[in-house]
Amino acid sequence: MNVVDLRSVSFRYAGSERNVLSDINLKIEEGESVLITGPSGCGKSTIARVIMGLIPHSYPGDFSGEAYVLGMNILENPVSRIATNCGIVFQNPENQLFTFSVEDDVAFGPENLALPPYEICRRVDESLRLVGIEHLRHASPNSISGGEQQKAAIASIISMHPSLIIFDEPTSMLDPSSSASLIQSIFRLKESLREMGKEITLIIIEHRINLLINHISRMIVVSDGKIVLDGDPMTVLNESFERRIPINIPPLLRIYFRIKDRCGLEKPPRSLQELLSYLREDGWGRNG
Ligand SMILES: Nc1ncnc2c1ncn2[C@@H]1O[C@H](COP(=O)(O)OP(=O)(O)OP(=O)(O)O)[C@@H](O)[C@H]1O
Ligand SMILES: [Mg+2]
Repeated sequence: MNVVDLRSVSFRYAGSERNVLSDINLKIEEGESVLITGPSGCGKSTIARVIMGLIPHSYPGDFSGEAYVLGMNILENPVSRIATNCGIVFQNPENQLFTFSVEDDVAFGPENLALPPYEICRRVDESLRLVGIEHLRHASPNSISGGEQQKAAIASIISMHPSLIIFDEPTSMLDPSSSASLIQSIFRLKESLREMGKEITLIIIEHRINLLINHISRMIVVSDGKIVLDGDPMTVLNESFERRIPINIPPLLRIYFRIKDRCGLEKPPRSLQELLSYLREDGWGRNG
């Protein structure tokens, strides 16, 4: 079964004159780690809202097409039902934290699932540990940093044990080193859950491709409300380079795409050192 199945989805926000999404077709299978990227305003968050059923249930507008998440037709299921199995971490995490302590926010989802108290405690402990914020258990969400709020929001989602998690620009509030460590913890989390017998599917909306390139199994580029590229990350990046699509291709890969044919480079270098040593010892001297 596809975790996400969007068929010819188009959407126009009420009051807007043009479609924000046009004929989106997207199938995502269990266990995939998918990066969705594209220029600001191209419709990435709107796709996430469709997958969560927030569109059309909470955002008025003209919706057409069909959308299924975990086999549920979003038109026939309330957002609350979709949200029990499908979590989203929004661009602004503070909107997602609404109680007086991190612990209460993380417990909120399991409480709503009416789980027994011991299971709620177990899930709170587990989620705080997996995200690495046990020390913030009793902190007020208003008193912690943007990055810590982001982690608290993630913990509040994973405590529900969802099958699908969407991260909408999870690093938007973070400096480069905290961003890298957050992305690493997201994929460590996926690995830990797999070891615990739970396969989760990740959709990450992000501009900072360099942080994700070694983790993702698939990359999608959205432009002006359409999916313009979808596939293996390296192929999609190469194609984006050739077609000059304005996304953040990591600088090392830009150099690689520019020179690979001329220098006979068969695979991308993993570091600047590797590229320089190749150019010095092999390719550049002979072919350059
Ligand atoms: N609630 C809304 N009502 C009307 N128009 C909206 C609404 N939300 C978004 N839009 C418009 O829809 C378009 C796509 O917005 P969306 O937030 O999906 O883009 P995005 O790709 O996530 O951008 P960013 O990278 O800046 O987050 C934009 O032109 C935006 O102004
Ligand atoms: Mg967005």
